[in-house]
Amino acid sequence: MGGSFLCLFVIFMFNVVWGDRVIVPKHDYSDALSKSILFFEGQRSGKLPYTQRMTWRKDSALHDGDQIGVDLVGGYYDAGDNVKFNFPMAFSTTMLAWSVLESGRFMGPDLKHALDAIRWGTDYFLKATSIPDLVFVQVGDPYGDHNCWQRPEDMDTPRTPYAVSKDHPGSEVAAEIAAALAASSIVFRTNDVPYSITLLRRAIEVFNFADKYRGSYNDSLGPWVCPFYCDYSGYQDELMWGAAWLHRATNSQVYWRYLVQNIHNMESSGNYAEFGWDSKYAGINVLLSKLLLLGGGYHVDPFHTFADKFVCSVLPESPTRGLDYSPGGLLFKPGGSNMQHTTALSFLLLVYARYLSHVNKVIRCGNVVVTPPRLIQFAKGQVDYILGSNPLNMSYMVGYGKNFPRKLHHRGASIQSLDRHSDHIDCKGGSPYYSSNNPDPNLLTGAVVGGPDIHDSYADSRQLFVQSEPTTYINAPLVGLLAYFKTHPV
Ligand SMILES: *[C@@H]1O[C@H](CO)[C@@H](O)[C@H](O)[C@H]1NC(C)=O
Ligand SMILES: *[C@@H]1O[C@H](CO)[C@@H](O)[C@H](O)[C@H]1NC(C)=O
Repeated sequence: MGGSFLCLFVIFMFNVVWGDRVIVPKHDYSDALSKSILFFEGQRSGKLPYTQRMTWRKDSALHDGDQIGVDLVGGYYDAGDNVKFNFPMAFSTTMLAWSVLESGRFMGPDLKHALDAIRWGTDYFLKATSIPDLVFVQVGDPYGDHNCWQRPEDMDTPRTPYAVSKDHPGSEVAAEIAAALAASSIVFRTNDVPYSITLLRRAIEVFNFADKYRGSYNDSLGPWVCPFYCDYSGYQDELMWGAAWLHRATNSQVYWRYLVQNIHNMESSGNYAEFGWDSKYAGINVLLSKLLLLGGGYHVDPFHTFADKFVCSVLPESPTRGLDYSPGGLLFKPGGSNMQHTTALSFLLLVYARYLSHVNKVIRCGNVVVTPPRLIQFAKGQVDYILGSNPLNMSYMVGYGKNFPRKLHHRGASIQSLDRHSDHIDCKGGSPYYSSNNPDPNLLTGAVVGGPDIHDSYADSRQLFVQSEPTTYINAPLVGLLAYFKTHPV
């Protein structure tokens, strides 16, 4: 009796009965989803709550903003260093919010943790935008920080705050923060109305600031932001992205007109196939294509046409493909931290496929017909590669599967935690950990690294940061993908 009961339980846990077929999923997407969200706890800056699950991390940067009398405690470290770069942090927050909007209902008990991850970002952004016409865009001198290998908990490098203003604008960062606040306001609308209203009000204010005082933070802050998160693609895309999210959040025609009036910027940039922390165009087109579902009032072209072009620039079988694949099938773009492209582009394809399938549309790339199920299958193939279906049988997510990266380019993960080594480790005191060939003493569970090279090889070397560094913007879109594949095994 006990035995057969257990057996039934096992079948329901691991197999999904789909019609008369029994599909055995290749991967445990549920486990990967939980871990992909847990990773954000490892990147937290500030005072950690009692609910913190990644307990080897401790409070850090508790005085951010003190020297100018502004509370800037909180937010996320972007990657393996200890600077708070608000430009990629805002993009990661926007993508976490979009993940929840598309896939939150598939997340089960992890939804709560995903909401916590978003709020960790938005609480900080409310602080970073608390003074009208001033937006904090970064905390921490990036040269001082990058010169040291130190746990965030020990940091003694200058925590300089950097801001943009009317006279020294930064439309890309401000508009991306507005996008993050607007997208998150929709997420919280169902479970925390006052918070949602606060986020939306602030999003509108910050967007107005970004739009009214136009300029790039490149020019306002120069070497403090370049070459770190330099804005290569200009700020027009973030202004449209901010407007697109404000349109989604408010349904106001003001933002729709803004988008239509600014289409020429997208057309002239020719960047409709790009999507990441720097360039938002493909995301804008996919996001606005949801309006197809509403029919009638919206003339979704050319956004929808651009979204189709984006798809045709990605898919391997498309005659107008504009990017490469490794022999093992991994989407690959040069420039480092490749997995950011893999997850962000796959997320867009999944989202677009679901919009298109609602209106029974297919895409034509030359004479190749692309159906929504094909887009979903493609995205799933990329996710499966990340989780271990690749020539090395290597999972690129820390703590998932048996064979995963052990030597991250990540200061916190690579140095003994305060639990094991309570003495202060100074700037250069961490160098032996950096050079060490030993595995990380702390598991940064759920972190997805930059990933293999275009030949599917992975060195697992802490020094090779293009491969071994995790980032928040690799994981944020993956959260939405994993939640979908957890409940849709095909
Ligand atoms: C920002 O600086 C980079 C590097 O100098 C440059 O390539 C890019 O065009 C600049 N972006 C803007 C919007 O000025
Ligand atoms: C990966 O796994 C497959 C199937 O189990 C096996 O045939 C192959 O040899 C493995 N490759 C490596 C590099 O371990």
